[in-house]
Amino acid sequence: MSQVVRQLAPQGPAPAEVAGTAFGRSVLAGLAASPKTLESKYFYDAEGSQLFDRITELEEYYPTRAETALLESNAAAIAGFAGPEAVLVEFGSGASVKTRILLDALPDLRAYVPIDISGTHLKKASAALAADYKVPIVPLHADYTAAIALPAAVPEGRRVGFFPGSTIGNFAPEEAVGFLAQARRLLGHGARFLVGADLQKEEARLLAAYDDREGVTAAFNLNLLHRINRELGGDFDPAAFRHEARYDAAEARIEMHLVSRRDQRVQLGGRRFAFREGESIHTENSYKYTSESLARLARQGGWQPLAEWRDPEGLFSLHGLIAP
Ligand code: AVI
Repeated sequence: MSQVVRQLAPQGPAPAEVAGTAFGRSVLAGLAASPKTLESKYFYDAEGSQLFDRITELEEYYPTRAETALLESNAAAIAGFAGPEAVLVEFGSGASVKTRILLDALPDLRAYVPIDISGTHLKKASAALAADYKVPIVPLHADYTAAIALPAAVPEGRRVGFFPGSTIGNFAPEEAVGFLAQARRLLGHGARFLVGADLQKEEARLLAAYDDREGVTAAFNLNLLHRINRELGGDFDPAAFRHEARYDAAEARIEMHLVSRRDQRVQLGGRRFAFREGESIHTENSYKYTSESLARLARQGGWQPLAEWRDPEGLFSLHGLIAP
C-alpha cells in the first residue's frame, strides 16, 4: 500500500481575516508599496518587547543609559521645572523604569497617569509602582497618538508630560509635530513637557547602536517577520533576510531594513509578494536631533522650549517645554 504524504498548508487566518485587522492591513499595504515598508510600531509584541528590553541593556545602545543618568543628575532642576503638586502624564509608559526617578524627585505629585497601548504593560507597571509609591495612579489604556482625553479621575494640578526614550525619533517630522500638538491639547495651557531626544553624532557610533555585535537588534528587526508568520499566517523565511542599519545624513536618521538574501516569493492573506536579491523592507526610522531641530519641532507643535539638559558627551538631551 502506498503512503500518501501531503504537505499541509501552514495554518493561519483566511485572507479576509488578514485584511480585517489593522496589523494585517498595514502589512499588506506596506509589502505592496515600492519601496516595501513595515510600520515600526508593530515591533512590540511580547517577543519584540523582550528583545527591546535587551537592546536597552546593550553596551552599544547608549540612549537608555544616557537618559537615565541625565534624569538622575538633574532631578532637582527637573523638579523645579515641573513645579509643585503637578500631575505627571507619561506617553507610552511601558515598564515605567525612568518614571521612578521622577516620582522620587516629585514627592508632592497629585497623580501619575501612565498611558500605554498595552493593557498588560499598564497593569504590571502600575501595580509595581503602587507597591512602592503613595501617589495615586490613574492608568489610561489608549493609543497616545490618537485624540484622547484624560480620565475624569485625574485631579486638578499642572499637567507635566513625560515622553522619554527618544521615541519622538520614530515619528517622521510631520508626525512628530502632530503628536506634539495633540499632547499640547491634552495637557492644556500652562503645562510642561519633558521630551527625550537622541542627538546627532558620528555615524559609526549611531550605526553600532543599531547593529550590535550580539545581534539583538537584528533579532528585534527580524521578529517582525516571525510576528507576521505567527499572527497573520505568512510564510516568510526570516533566515532569507538580513538586518541592516543605515544612516541617512541628509535626513539625520538611522534607518533599519530587512534585506532579501535571494530572489524569493512570500505568501500572505492570499497574495504573493516577490522580492529581488538585495531588495529591502524599510522597517524603522530613528531621527537624531540638534537642540535647534528639536526646538523647531516643539514650536511647530505649539510648545515653547524653556530648558535643555544634556550629558557632557553630548549623546542625549532632555527638553523642557512649556505650553503658552
Ligand atoms: C523605541 N525607539 C526610541 C528605539 C530607537 O532607538 O529608535 C527603537 C529601536 N530600534 C532599534 N533599536 C532601538
